Amino acid sequence: MLLVVGLLCIFLVGATGSPNVKYVEELVRNNVFGPVPQNVLEDATLDVPELVRKYGYPLEKHNVITLDGYILELHRIPHGRFNNNQAGNKPVVFVMHGVVCSSADWVLTGPGVGLGYILAEEGFDVWLGNNRGNYYSRRHLTLNPDDANSTAFWQYSLDEMGNLDLSSSIDYILRVTGRPNLHYIGHSQGTSVFFVLGSLRPDFSEKIAAAHMLAPVVFTVANRNPMLDALSPIAAAIMSSLTDFGIGEMAPKSDLMAFIARTFCADGTSTQPICSALLFMIGGWSESQHNATLLPVKLAHTPAGSGVRQFAHMTQNVASKNFRRYDFGTVENLLRYGTAEPPAYNLKNIKSPVFLHYSHGDVRIHEGDVRVLYDALDAPKEMILIEERTFSHVDFMWGINAKTVLYDRIISDIRRIENSRK
Ligand SMILES: *[C@@H]1O[C@H](CO)[C@@H](O)[C@H](O)[C@H]1NC(C)=O
Ligand SMILES: *[C@@H]1O[C@H](CO)[C@@H](O)[C@H](O)[C@H]1NC(C)=O
Repeated sequence: MLLVVGLLCIFLVGATGSPNVKYVEELVRNNVFGPVPQNVLEDATLDVPELVRKYGYPLEKHNVITLDGYILELHRIPHGRFNNNQAGNKPVVFVMHGVVCSSADWVLTGPGVGLGYILAEEGFDVWLGNNRGNYYSRRHLTLNPDDANSTAFWQYSLDEMGNLDLSSSIDYILRVTGRPNLHYIGHSQGTSVFFVLGSLRPDFSEKIAAAHMLAPVVFTVANRNPMLDALSPIAAAIMSSLTDFGIGEMAPKSDLMAFIARTFCADGTSTQPICSALLFMIGGWSESQHNATLLPVKLAHTPAGSGVRQFAHMTQNVASKNFRRYDFGTVENLLRYGTAEPPAYNLKNIKSPVFLHYSHGDVRIHEGDVRVLYDALDAPKEMILIEERTFSHVDFMWGINAKTVLYDRIISDIRRIENSRK
């Protein structure tokens, strides 16, 4: 089995261009952003390998096949450009994106700012993951994501993304690098899937030297309001049935986005100011951390697509006020889990040290929920509040000062743990 996966280390000629290139070009033509520098426009059109190589960094594409046949594309920056610029036996850091995001989010802000580049310069072997169903991992050995008659490709939730995508990716990375373990950095959904993996696969604790969680999403129990209590079960029921009705993918298809851009965002149309405001709100960034010049690059790479069921799974957890396996309904739950209700993930199985980074400026993650998560863990753990009060959910990946506010701290934790092993 290990050998088979090992042999599948294929360097394929993959997709070229960023996922939303057409739509962003339409916005640029309609002058939604104002004048866009040529260099920024170029970053908006390139895909991750092209973008990283443009800035003089080495980039390897690796394909990992999961146990259930999904083909995931990992992006590796094996060393730095200016510092630590030789390949070698370096500590490995595996970085996992959030929902509707991709490996692009760790490099699109450019060298010196993006976490992918910073880690490479600091002497780490950097692997950027892509979960099944996003732009870079929208492939399967037998299932077709575009099959109009079947959503079989899209029938997965956070459960498979944690249990199968992460385990295959981590085993693959450790085999290629020959290292005994790696550091995991996850953002948002990238933290949820880590907690799924750690709960279902206790054997992975020894493969993960530490888990650095950025804006962890697990419990939504603190600060509940009556509206959330009333609506979340309904939303969960609707979301969970979409895949059965033939809606498997949550994809802003580029053609549709381009149509919207043309119709509502063109210069001179009455809706154009609303359009700009909307783009801004979707991001939810803080003014001080947002580099407005890079807006076309951010929108070209994000959203990068995802399955509907991962949203259904998140909504189910909000409704149940718990962190449980996917709820298939009573009959299928009995068949799969042997219980009518889905079992809760057992966070006590996680033994790797866990660092929980959160911010008061992040309106999606409540401090009380981070505290509930902290209390549920048995592993060595730490809650770390970002000192900058306005630091928001997307600033963990795109923030102008993310390095000084957050990444430097993570790097010092990684170094400390690595040094303590020597
Ligand atoms: C979908 O079903 C239609 C009608 O049954 C059929 O003509 C078509 O070939 C099918 N498409 C795929 C991709 O299987
Ligand atoms: C914003 O991004 C551009 C392009 O990468 C860069 O030249 C500029 O210095 C950045 N601005 C800030 C405030 O970081």
